[in-house]
Amino acid sequence: MLDAEKTNNALLEVNNIEVIYNHVILVLKGVSLSVPKGGITALLGGNGAGKTTTLKAISNLLHSERGEVTKGSVSYQGQEVQELNPAALVKRGVIQVMEGRHCFEHLTVEENLLTGAYTRRDGRAEIERDLEMVYTYFPRLKERRKSQAGYTSGGEQQMCAMGRALMSRPETILLDEPSMGLAPQLVEQIFEIVKSVNEGEGTTFLLAEQNTNVALKYAHYGYILENGRVVMDGPAAELRENPDVKEFYLGVSDDGRKSFRDVRSYRRRKRWLS
Ligand SMILES: Nc1ncnc2c1ncn2[C@@H]1O[C@H](COP(=O)(O)OP(=O)(O)OP(=O)(O)O)[C@@H](O)[C@H]1O
Ligand SMILES: [Mg+2]
Repeated sequence: MLDAEKTNNALLEVNNIEVIYNHVILVLKGVSLSVPKGGITALLGGNGAGKTTTLKAISNLLHSERGEVTKGSVSYQGQEVQELNPAALVKRGVIQVMEGRHCFEHLTVEENLLTGAYTRRDGRAEIERDLEMVYTYFPRLKERRKSQAGYTSGGEQQMCAMGRALMSRPETILLDEPSMGLAPQLVEQIFEIVKSVNEGEGTTFLLAEQNTNVALKYAHYGYILENGRVVMDGPAAELRENPDVKEFYLGVSDDGRKSFRDVRSYRRRKRWLS
């Protein structure tokens, strides 16, 4: 895809950002991403690659972690947003579902969902309608609506966190590691729901995932991060067929996940990657 094409339909753009923790630890070393409206974009990479940091940089959640964007910019609908706090960003239509779910354990599932509507001012009837909308995507949550969230399963809590995000009527959802700790069948189920929300509501997704296999099955476009840098990006269908991705991320090789930089053939193949 040409750069110009990317820019034209980009809803969210991350331009060459650098993030430093505790004033000294350089974690993102110039990351750029372009997230088109209505698409599912995957941010891939292993442990500690910088996926969560990228999402937090976008939604301005780094301060509490003593992290700071020291270079570059983030824009949404063509306007820079890095000065907006997370609540202001929700009003613009961007919401993050954090890694590890974070439901309010002592509230019921339905009460959790209703907390997602807190920024809205369009009245009870609309909120009730959206609650039903969430239940059509997550029938399981309807069954569990009166249960205390703390006693529901991991999969249900992931659904609850996603449903709560949907209650703010977001244009864009930043979804961090939705597969974490879930059995393979449930992971598929969660991604099927992402797909149907994307298709049914037109919601744009940027999702961070270690599970390359499932992410590339559902995403339209992917970026692979390694050690704070994007090492490859492309349409999901192309990444799935790429020999390096197969070898390093899709578990086709026997000796586990390696780094692109560890392998001599990487240099030879590098012309394919840019
Ligand atoms: N608050 C922090 N202070 C210092 N270093 C941090 C902090 N948070 C993350 N890091 C470091 O930044 C790097 C990137 O972390 P990040 O959580 O963004 O990776 P990730 O790709 O989301 O990994 P995972 O798949 O394990 O969630 C790691 O080396 C991590 O140790
Ligand atoms: Mg993470």
